[in-house]
Amino acid sequence: MNTPVNSAPLFAALDAEAAAALRSSMVEVKAKKGAVIFEEGEPGDRLYVITTGKVTLGHKAKDGRETLLGVLGPGEMFGELSLFDPGTRTATAVALTDVKLLGLSSDSLRPWLTGRPEVSLKLLQALAQRLRRTEDAMADLVFSDVPGRVAKALLSLSDKFGVFKDGELFIEHDMTQEELAQLVGASRETVNKALAEFVNRGWMRVEQRSVTIVDLERIQRRSS
Ligand code: CMP
Repeated sequence: MNTPVNSAPLFAALDAEAAAALRSSMVEVKAKKGAVIFEEGEPGDRLYVITTGKVTLGHKAKDGRETLLGVLGPGEMFGELSLFDPGTRTATAVALTDVKLLGLSSDSLRPWLTGRPEVSLKLLQALAQRLRRTEDAMADLVFSDVPGRVAKALLSLSDKFGVFKDGELFIEHDMTQEELAQLVGASRETVNKALAEFVNRGWMRVEQRSVTIVDLERIQRRSS
């Protein structure tokens, strides 16, 4: 079965039998939209793979400003950092929609890491990809303007949540405009202005908690 969960880094290196064995040591966790799954600063000893729904990972700066580090969907993993580097959670995880997760404790994970090096390699690859994306996002904060960052964030969301319908790209991101602004790292006003400009140019439509990209080429050009 090729469900998004089976393609998660944790399972990707395993055959069906081993993946089923690993799944049997995981516990299902359900969270309602808006529920806090864990908070930044808490000790953590469990990683999660999303089965259904979306999760935001957020960070609060000392001055109280909140930023979103990412929005994750089915098949994606979070909460692994405090397992590999024992310590406190580096971000707060919140259910953006109702979610179902599979949780794996560090005790259950360890035998898989030592007995199946291919699992460790896949997890390292996932961490390396995240590091690249974080570095990319930091460079964008310095070198790209807000409309460019908005275009880029929407394209990144479309990779996970986008669906082509009648030649248009529909992206149900489930975020409020404030959350979208936190993801882009700009004020709500500037992000709204950028979105309004894209709409005025006929490049997209903005609906509540979703956008529809009408002219993908223009958005791609604006993002680079
Ligand atoms: P952990 O520190 O255990 O809890 C918070 C989780 O958020 C962390 O593990 C990672 O899984 C995830 N995380 C932290 N920083 C980022 C980031 N920049 N992008 C995406 N996910 C992140």
